[in-house]
Amino acid sequence: MQIQNDKDLRGIKQIGELCGLTLKLMLDSAEPGMSTKHLDDIGREFLQQHGAASAPITAYKFPGYTCISLNDEAAHGIPREDRIIQAGDLLNVDVSAVLDGYWGDTGASVIVPPSRPELEHLLDSTRKALYLSIDMARPGQQANAIGKAVEKFAKRNGYRTLRELGGHGVGRHIHEKPSIPNYYNKRNKDVLEDGMVITLEPFLNTGRGRIKTEDDGWTLRTVDGSLSAQFEHTVIINGDNPILATQVDGGYV
Ligand code: CO
Ligand code: CO
Repeated sequence: MQIQNDKDLRGIKQIGELCGLTLKLMLDSAEPGMSTKHLDDIGREFLQQHGAASAPITAYKFPGYTCISLNDEAAHGIPREDRIIQAGDLLNVDVSAVLDGYWGDTGASVIVPPSRPELEHLLDSTRKALYLSIDMARPGQQANAIGKAVEKFAKRNGYRTLRELGGHGVGRHIHEKPSIPNYYNKRNKDVLEDGMVITLEPFLNTGRGRIKTEDDGWTLRTVDGSLSAQFEHTVIINGDNPILATQVDGGYV
């Protein structure tokens, strides 16, 4: 969507902050021995207390309030009672929700202690890729230029990007135009405009950068068992000062 007035701006900031706070609460709460279903329940309760609905359920009938992906699951992991978080796991939580007709979307990856240096490097590089793309998020910028820069940055750091997943318009629905790929896609002609609400969400991968959908119909797992990290903000294009609607104090992204 494109921000038209103060009500739109307030609406996006409100759902953005709520998504950011939910993500922080969930990642603060995650610990070894906890099921991903329990972690999802923590997010569900917080969203419901604040009057918001889950975007994946509302838009796609996804079987969970949030997406929780572990290790070689790249995205769209289904919260499950029998999926137990272990020490040393790479954990990704993606929170998207809708309140008063406005939709927001954020995500982050963490390592459940103990950490490993190579995983820290993957997370650092992915977070840097997000902020590199935010720095480029200006009116008139080609979505493709961002994709090219993210892919180049990933390669220089020893990673590939996942091509099937990337940034997207958001605000009046969870997935809108434009699309902001994490690679140079010559068919993409999208250009950013002032007031546009988009997500930026690089996925960096330690392997071949290929994923497939599991038999459950949702979970996206890497084909080679490699690891991926993602950091995502909902961003309002605003001249030279993009607004990070999903950023909260003490947050992970
Ligand atoms: Co997301
Ligand atoms: Co998204």
